[in-house]
Amino acid sequence: MDLYEYQARDLFEKYEVPVLAGIVADTPEEVRAAAEKIGGVVVVKAQVKAGGRGKAGGVKVAKTPDEAYELSKAIFGLDIKGHVVKRVMVAQGARIDKEYYFSVLLDRANRSYLSLCSVEGGMEIEELAVERPEALARIDVNPGTGIDKAKAVEIAEAAGFSADLVDKVSDVFVKLYNVYKGEDATLVEVNPLVLTEEGDVIALDGKVSLDENAEFRHAGHALLEDKDAADPLEAKAKANDLNYVKLDGEVGVIGNGAGLVMSTLDVVAYAGENHGGVKPANFLDIGGGASAEVMAAGLDVILGDPQVKSVFVNVFGGITACDAVAKGIVGALAELGSSASKPLVVRLDGNKVDEGRAILRDANHPLVTLAETMDEGADKAAELANA
Ligand SMILES: Nc1ncnc2c1ncn2[C@@H]1O[C@H](COP(=O)(O)OP(=O)(O)OP(=O)(O)O)[C@@H](O)[C@H]1O
Ligand SMILES: [Mg+2]
Repeated sequence: MDLYEYQARDLFEKYEVPVLAGIVADTPEEVRAAAEKIGGVVVVKAQVKAGGRGKAGGVKVAKTPDEAYELSKAIFGLDIKGHVVKRVMVAQGARIDKEYYFSVLLDRANRSYLSLCSVEGGMEIEELAVERPEALARIDVNPGTGIDKAKAVEIAEAAGFSADLVDKVSDVFVKLYNVYKGEDATLVEVNPLVLTEEGDVIALDGKVSLDENAEFRHAGHALLEDKDAADPLEAKAKANDLNYVKLDGEVGVIGNGAGLVMSTLDVVAYAGENHGGVKPANFLDIGGGASAEVMAAGLDVILGDPQVKSVFVNVFGGITACDAVAKGIVGALAELGSSASKPLVVRLDGNKVDEGRAILRDANHPLVTLAETMDEGADKAAELANA
């Protein structure tokens, strides 16, 4: 889960990372009040989960509360890479001497953590990494030992900080690592980390991604979720403990096991090439225990997507045998009644496949078509979606 800048700022504050005053505001009037409260020069910053806010006109300096009020009118409603600004943060203005870059992230490929750091912050770091990779230090971080003071000094020196700054910035790196570790983040990025004219090192911008798999360890993380921005179907799936990802095609896909569902997406996309280019509408893994309730919840989510024209249920019976899955499908259709209105292609295989198919044949539901193989099922579902 990606956080907004103001949420990252609040987390930083909790871990004693130096930040400036920041107040969120949802209207120009609130912006003025926040600017009055902070006093002096402020910066009005669009709160969207997209990069390049400054370049898009979403970060503006204001000398007075009235100016902040006026400037914010142009920021609210601004479209930044498809994200419309509904909220801003009014931040205390810093007198910037230098801008740096620091991040620590999960390095999946190397099963490790990685810290990136540069004395040339501010600009888009992706550009710097491509154009002048030597200006961006990449330091491996052992997850067992993390970023202690010695490691932080190593990072600062590798990035090219002058000797008089190493001590100061490395203290901040340790604190930022404490955020990363303490909150189970997969990314903590500060761009820019600045040196002010007063000589302070401050995190002026923050990006934090939290590991959703660790949510159970952090009661507060659920509150950080942006319920308005979440897709309603994804929210419904989550409430039912289903692994669901919305995609943009027309064929709903339900399977048991992430691997099977992934390959089903491929097979459906391939079959779709012969049927008007239809594509999978979603990823939905109902997991091992495909009971009637779980199947009903899964079908309910998928049938609630107006883009879905047909559904392909692809199940391989293992511990949960095909007869239980078939009963689940029949039960789910009965439970959903008239709200189940789209054709369903069902392919069952594996444990108790004959019993499972017999149950579906006997139920003889008008919406259900049985398929012998995965390819055949995908082809039929694609054909129905294109009909
Ligand atoms: N509180 C502040 N005081 C003074 N200048 C600021 C402040 N916040 C941001 N700036 C200036 O604005 C620039 C852009 O701000 P920021 O990094 O927050 O947004 P961004 O980089 O455009 O957005 P993103 O990080 O989403 O790409 C900074 O590099 C800095 O020069
Ligand atoms: Mg930035």
